[in-house]
Amino acid sequence: MADVLNQLSNNLPRRKFDAVIVGAGGAGMRCSLQLAEAGYDVAVLSKVFPTRSHTVAAQGGIGASLGNMSEDNWYWHMFDTVKGSDYLGDQDAIEFMCREAPKVVYELEHFGMPFDRNPDGTIYQRPFGGHTANFGEKPVQRACAAADRTGHALLHTLYQRNVRARTQFFVEWMALDIVRDSEGDCVGVVALEMETGELLMLESKVTVFATGGAGRIFAASTNAFINTGDGLGMAARAGIPLEDMEFWQFHPTGVAGAGVLITEGVRGEGGILLNKQGERFMERYAPTLKDLAPRDFVSRSMDQEIKEGRGAGPHGDYVLLKLDHLGAETIMKRLPSIREISIKFANVDPITDPIPVVPTLHYQMGGIPTNYHGQVVVPKNGNPNSVVGGLYAIGECACVSVHGANRLGTNSLLDLVVFGRAAGNHIVASKAKDASHKLLPRDAGDAALARLARLDGSTSGENTQDVASDIRRAMQSHCGVFRTKELLAEGVQVIGAMAARVDAVHLKDKSQVFNTARVEALELHNLLEVARATIASAEARKESRGAHAHRDYPERDDVNWLKHTLWYSDGNRLEYKPVNVKPLTVETFEPKARTF
Ligand code: FUM
Repeated sequence: MADVLNQLSNNLPRRKFDAVIVGAGGAGMRCSLQLAEAGYDVAVLSKVFPTRSHTVAAQGGIGASLGNMSEDNWYWHMFDTVKGSDYLGDQDAIEFMCREAPKVVYELEHFGMPFDRNPDGTIYQRPFGGHTANFGEKPVQRACAAADRTGHALLHTLYQRNVRARTQFFVEWMALDIVRDSEGDCVGVVALEMETGELLMLESKVTVFATGGAGRIFAASTNAFINTGDGLGMAARAGIPLEDMEFWQFHPTGVAGAGVLITEGVRGEGGILLNKQGERFMERYAPTLKDLAPRDFVSRSMDQEIKEGRGAGPHGDYVLLKLDHLGAETIMKRLPSIREISIKFANVDPITDPIPVVPTLHYQMGGIPTNYHGQVVVPKNGNPNSVVGGLYAIGECACVSVHGANRLGTNSLLDLVVFGRAAGNHIVASKAKDASHKLLPRDAGDAALARLARLDGSTSGENTQDVASDIRRAMQSHCGVFRTKELLAEGVQVIGAMAARVDAVHLKDKSQVFNTARVEALELHNLLEVARATIASAEARKESRGAHAHRDYPERDDVNWLKHTLWYSDGNRLEYKPVNVKPLTVETFEPKARTF
């Protein structure tokens, strides 16, 4: 490491690729596959072995209106997604995603993805929250499932295809910074090999961010430990705003006390939520969809049950997910991992006993602003969506925005493959490969080197994990399921004060420090950017919409707040841009009250 710190950034070792993709989850590998098969020289960087990316944890299914169980169509899927988003989603992108859904699912099937089957051989589909037929009339089975391991099946399928297509994987590499030239175009990334601590400049004609979410800014999260918002941190440091960061989804069913996900597919298969009186309380909150109302609705209802004293357990701080009535055979066949998780993390066998569950942080709806080709867009010269040359973002790190203020279950896996594929297609269609590499600026890499030097040079300061835990605790208590003016204002102060502590993080005895400690400290910089963006954006939004539930402003306010937030790291400032309410080919879905 010391050798690296002595290097001038323009002397860093370099490698050139047609395309560099940061992140090897579902979005990154769907994009790399498209590019590698088109003859691109593609490098995919990943902090972990590709099949350990967080996509592997997705359980319940991928949404597509195949209509295998009963009539369905993409227009109903689009309606559910727009309504689910509390009308903040961009309707051009939503139309694009819902129309593409059946095609990308059949493609996965042909890649060899082991979906569950119906007796007639078609793909099995289960009900999920907010999925309806005929514009909200009745539930529909739209989630294409591989038992309760759909993400696992998808990720392994894509990895195998990429190996065949000769995608080059840089395993256990962490990207540290985007390199932009004087025109603002992206010309590559600086990355760290985690094992050796060596830095490398990866020059690319196009760079694609597929770095996943940042759910680790919260203390109780279903997210993997790697989900530290690295792409968002890099974008923010490079002057790119982050969009709609106030909107974070709490999944209704995380195992109480452990945070591990229990798929919505459990309720899709017929599981129900009960309070301590054994009442199926969702019947009161959402008379039509009941336990399968969208997640923001169910999470708030659960929170209310607990706050009003109807929570179960010795402290009354969780509700119960009952599925014993499904029978052992269905549980073993459709939900085998859920049974295993319940036994291991909650010490209950769901074949006989209910699972204790609480709303748990699960997904970020906001991210790096993009259009539906995956191109990163920023406001410039009066155009709110001016394209940043050479830079794409896809998957959870991006805000395209198809999820708006609240994502529908199973639209996350769909988002990954639809926009991973779309970005790949756009890059190929724009003939990026035929261009030459642009010149690297002389200071490319300086910022990353300076950060590393500061980290290694600090002689006092705090431990990374102590600071990270305080950030997580502050976000959990100040920016949870329900928010208030007071909590948010205090949260802005508390998170603001973390910057000095993050800058002073001290890696104790340098000679004995593994690079993983350095990596965690570097991740902390990214966590902080995401936390700052979240709390500032949430504090400013004076309404309730989707996952942003504000006790002091309980109503949605379409007159003043039907707009996207843009947060800039520099100056911790906010701007806003209009929601694109115009779909590609159909009529706009006008905002209506959301009842289920
Ligand atoms: O509940 C689940 O299986 C999660 C799915 C999703 O977040 O889309």
